[in-house]
Amino acid sequence: MSSFHYQNNTLFAENVSLAKIATDHGTPCYVYSRAAITQQWHAFDEGFARLPHLICYAVKANSNLAVLNILARLGSGFDIVSGGELARVIAAGGDPQKIVFSGVGKKTSEIIAALEAGIFCFNVESAAELTRINEIASQQKKCAPIAIRVNPDVDAQTHPYISTGLKENKFGVAMSEALELFQLAHHEKYLNVIGIACHIGSQITSLAPFLAATECVLELRDQLEKLDISISHLDLGGGLGVRYAQETPPKPAEYAAAIAERFKQLNIKLLLEPGRAIVAKAGVLLAKVEYLKNSPHKDFAILDTGMNDLIRPAMYQAHHDILPVQRGTVGVHQHYDIVGPICETGDFIAKNRDLILTSGDILAIMDTGAYGFTMSSNYNTRARAVEIMVDGEQVHIIRDREHVQDLWKHEHVLP
Ligand code: LLP
Repeated sequence: MSSFHYQNNTLFAENVSLAKIATDHGTPCYVYSRAAITQQWHAFDEGFARLPHLICYAVKANSNLAVLNILARLGSGFDIVSGGELARVIAAGGDPQKIVFSGVGKKTSEIIAALEAGIFCFNVESAAELTRINEIASQQKKCAPIAIRVNPDVDAQTHPYISTGLKENKFGVAMSEALELFQLAHHEKYLNVIGIACHIGSQITSLAPFLAATECVLELRDQLEKLDISISHLDLGGGLGVRYAQETPPKPAEYAAAIAERFKQLNIKLLLEPGRAIVAKAGVLLAKVEYLKNSPHKDFAILDTGMNDLIRPAMYQAHHDILPVQRGTVGVHQHYDIVGPICETGDFIAKNRDLILTSGDILAIMDTGAYGFTMSSNYNTRARAVEIMVDGEQVHIIRDREHVQDLWKHEHVLP
């Protein structure tokens, strides 16, 4: 049974009614399932069980301390992209020696912090960054473990904003330049070249792009061997998609089986950086229907949440299923645009949805555990939502609802 399911027409997260959570904690409200997160993490970890491997959860997908702590307790590694995420992972009990640091714009202070923490590996994204890490490592007399992130020029066939492995994208180093950079790094005293990394995009729904990228990385590894540069791990990044609407992405176990098959004769450690596939389906956003508004052309349901809490529909035209937490048996289905209160036309959650609605209803915006809260903002001076973790029968507040007064806490009027 899925962690979110109906029982007698009431939507549950594990053993807790979402209607009750909305009553007790108000809306908008993110609700996550510990069981769902745990299950997905194990699906990856077990899928690669026969190979030396480390699952490095991509923190950006959902960086709440409780989420990170659940994963840390499972033994997960972490993929971070900022000093902030580094500090979060450590605060949540994550092991620095299982952290990989990705991202095209690592600042000096972030590199120093990561060196001090003793992270597992820097995924280097450019020649300039390599130089900077080398300078800092030499100054600090600390050897920096590095992988070079290559850009295999593979089409991930996903939304252009979340495709990263094409040659026109800003990420990684072109395959044609990678060898030279590896050689350069190899000769530096304070750089320890340990891996090759790649990440080709997100919400990828077929295996082919992953397998194509894998081949590129393996070929590069062979070329490096010939130059006596021996690599101890390959990091294939994240990117496995989930089913939001009609997509049919491979399951983590299928994805793992296909990749593991290619690696079974090779004695090399594999790193993966899944984010979405671990947490997307483990979360919902609860919102209240404030108003129903019928205009001659459209019927709108106006919610108490919008692009400030969930920007994916506005930013990527992303689809999220919308379910009532209490399924009614009476009423008329109507076609609604489900919109937020924000003063932007782009502020919608869904378009043309068939629903039976009354004002005051609570809706669950499904599959919002990834890139939901982490991309939220205070636009229009809206306090960010409360976050709740359900664990069996238990309900834990894992982030308090913000108070409006806190929103200008760091602001100053002129004397
Ligand atoms: N590793 C690196 C280097 C990444 O850049 C990303 C995501 C991941 C791993 C995790 O990818 P995942 O397994 O979650 O697909 N905000 C967008 C998604 C942006 C993904 C950015 N990078 C969305 O809401 O769809």
